[in-house]
Amino acid sequence: MSSTKVVLTAETVPHVALDIMNNTHFEELELVRSLGELITHYQQGDNDILSQALNEWLEHTQTHFSRENKLMVDIQFPMYLVHSGEHAQVLEEMESIVTSWNNDHDIALLSEYVFTAWPQWFQQHVNSMDMVTAQFAVMNGYDPHKSAQD
Ligand SMILES: [Fe+2]
Ligand SMILES: [Fe+2]
Repeated sequence: MSSTKVVLTAETVPHVALDIMNNTHFEELELVRSLGELITHYQQGDNDILSQALNEWLEHTQTHFSRENKLMVDIQFPMYLVHSGEHAQVLEEMESIVTSWNNDHDIALLSEYVFTAWPQWFQQHVNSMDMVTAQFAVMNGYDPHKSAQD
């Protein structure tokens, strides 16, 4: 695994054709930013605060992915299995990171995931799967600026 650090913000993350998807991504990056702060300033005793922040992130990711999966079903996206498969895989990975944090409180392992592995994955995923899905939705009549999915 490469150790190149990717710094993702609302400005630097790739933007897709649907506002609603972008907004979810920005929210998620904000959660990861505050999680990153907690990790940077970590001291023993902060374990519960970090567990809480990780749970919040996990819940946000679950909602994020299930919304996109639903969108793909609605628009009959032809690469549904590939895109939802990436979601399932990363969710499993996050769940195992959170579980191992709760058991071992290994800050180095968590730090590697939050600052390196996950941002690389996220950037690559948004730039490919999410990008193509959003384009397909707009081509099929979705309003790019609609604020909620029906
Ligand atoms: Fe996404
Ligand atoms: Fe996605």
